[in-house]
Amino acid sequence: MLMSPMPADRSRNNIDFRAANGRRHFIGRKGDMEIKVDTRPFAKIETDALVTYAFEQEKTVDSGAMALDAVTGDAISKLTASGELTGKFLEATLLHYPQGLAAHRLLILGAGKKEKFGTVEARRLAGAAVRTLKAKQVKSLAFLVREGERSEEIAQAIVEGLIVANFDSDKYKTDKKPGNEIISAAIAGWDESSCADADRGIERGRLIGESQNFARELGNEPANLMTPRILASRAEAMAREAGLAVDILDEKKIEELKMGALLSVAQGSVEPPRLIVITYTPEKLRPNAPVLGLVGKAITFDTGGISIKPANDMEKMKYDMCGGAAMLGAMRAIARLKPSCKVIAVVPSSENMPGGRAQKPGDVQIAMSGKSIEVINTDAEGRLVLADAVTYAKQLGCTHLVDAATLTGAVVVALSNVNVGVFGTDQAFTDQLLASSKVAGEKMWPLPMDDEYREMIKSGIADIQNVGTGKGGGATVGAMFIREFAGDTPWIHLDIAGTAWQDDVKPWAAKGATGVGVRTLVDLAMKFGADGNSAKPTK
Ligand code: BES
Ligand code: ZN
Ligand code: ZN
Repeated sequence: MLMSPMPADRSRNNIDFRAANGRRHFIGRKGDMEIKVDTRPFAKIETDALVTYAFEQEKTVDSGAMALDAVTGDAISKLTASGELTGKFLEATLLHYPQGLAAHRLLILGAGKKEKFGTVEARRLAGAAVRTLKAKQVKSLAFLVREGERSEEIAQAIVEGLIVANFDSDKYKTDKKPGNEIISAAIAGWDESSCADADRGIERGRLIGESQNFARELGNEPANLMTPRILASRAEAMAREAGLAVDILDEKKIEELKMGALLSVAQGSVEPPRLIVITYTPEKLRPNAPVLGLVGKAITFDTGGISIKPANDMEKMKYDMCGGAAMLGAMRAIARLKPSCKVIAVVPSSENMPGGRAQKPGDVQIAMSGKSIEVINTDAEGRLVLADAVTYAKQLGCTHLVDAATLTGAVVVALSNVNVGVFGTDQAFTDQLLASSKVAGEKMWPLPMDDEYREMIKSGIADIQNVGTGKGGGATVGAMFIREFAGDTPWIHLDIAGTAWQDDVKPWAAKGATGVGVRTLVDLAMKFGADGNSAKPTK
C-alpha cells in the first residue's frame, strides 16, 4: 500500500507510477487525480481531509460510525444531538483538526435514507466532497466507505464521482487560481483481503470518469475552436493514443458516398464536414458476433440555417455536438476496458449555417440510402446528418445501433433536464440499455413510437419530410425520421438535448457540458454480446 502522499509535481507528470510493492497506483496525464486504496485504519490516514457520511434518522449507529465517534471524542453524536448533523442528502459538516485523527479535517456528508443508498448516491457524495473541499484549497482527501458497502461497484462509482467533480470549465479564464483541484485521493475502509475489488473499481472508475471529462471538454469548446475539422483531429488523436482504428472521411469522400443529407446541412458553411469513424475490435472475435454501432450527432454550431434560430441562447448551440462527443468518450474508455464485442463509432460532423449556398426550406435531398427528403425546416438538421451516418454504420456491419443526439427542444419540454429521452425498436436491446443507464446513474426515460407518428413525416413531393405535419410530439417525430434509416436493424435513439448541458453548477459537477451517455454506453458495451439475447436481432 502506498502510505505517503505522492509529491504534487510528480503526481502531475505523464508517468506510470509503481509503488515499491509493484502495485500500480497511478497512470495518468498531467492534471489527473492520483487515486489509490488506503487500507490503514482510518484514524491513521494522513490527508488534508477524511470524508465520510451519515444517514438520515440513523437510530443505531453502525460499527464504522461508532468507531469514528469514539475516536473523535463523540464528535458525531454531539453534532447529531445539537441538530447540526441530520444526515439529509448532501448536507456538509466540516470539522478542523478533529481529535484522534491524523487527517487535518473531517468532512461528514449527509447520505439520505440508508435503504436508498447505492452507487448513485455514492457517486454524488464523492463528487460533492471534491467540490466542497477544492473550493477551500484542499489538495488531498480520503473517502471512507462504511461497512457493508465495500464493493467493486461502489469503488468505481466513488472514483467516477471524484474525477468528474474535479473537472472545471475554466480553460479560457486567464485569472484562475493555479491548481484549484484535488491532486490525490484515497478510498478507505477496505482491508487487504478485499483490496483487489477496490483496485478494479478504481481502475474502471478512473477510465470512465476521465472519458466522461474528455467528452465534456469537447462539448465546452466554443464553436470557433471546435469546427468539424478540429473535432476530427481531436478524435483521431484520441483514437491513436487509445490504439483504436480511425478513419476520417473528408468532404470528397462524403460526396463519393453520396451522403446527400449530411452534405445538405454542410453546404451553407465555409467549414467542410467530416465523418469520423472509430473502430474497436476485440482480440478474439467470434464469427457472426453482433457489432455495436454508436452514432453521435456532432453539429459544432447550429444557427438553424435559413430557418434561423432567435439570438437569445443561440450561443449554447456550440453544444450541439455532444452526442458525437459522448460516443468518442465512450470509445476512449472501451479501448481500455476491452469488451468482447466489436464497437464502431460513426460521428457525422458539420456546422449548420445560413451561407449563400445554404439549403432552403422546401429543398429535396437524396440521402445515402436513396430515400428522398423534403427539408421543410433547415433547423431540423440533426436527423439529416444522422440519416447518412446510420446508413453508413449499417454498411460497415453494425448489427445493433445506438444514436445520441441533441435533437429536439421538444424533449426538453417533455423531460426537462432530468431524463434522456429513449426511443427503441427492439425491446430486449432497449431494456439492456435502460438497465445500463441505471447502473451508470444516468436517468433515461422511454418515449413512444407508434405507427400514427409515421404519418406525420409523409411529404407531398418526396419520400419523407424532416419535420412533422401535425401538432406536438416533436421528440417522437425526430425519432421516427431516424428510424426510417435504421430500418430492421435493432436501434435506440437517445435524445440528449435537455441533459447534455447544465446551466447551473451542481454540488457534484461544474456547469457546462455533462458528458451524459458516456457511462451508460460503456456499461452497455461491456455487457453487449456477453449474453445470448443481444447476439441475434430480437425483432
Ligand atoms: N439542436 C437543436 C435541438 C436543441 C434544442 C438542442 C435545444 C439543445 C437544446 C435541433 O437541431 C433543432 O433545432 N431542432 C428543432 C427541430 C424542429 C425544427 C422540428 C427544434 O427542436 O426546435
Ligand atoms: Zn437545429
Ligand atoms: Zn441541432
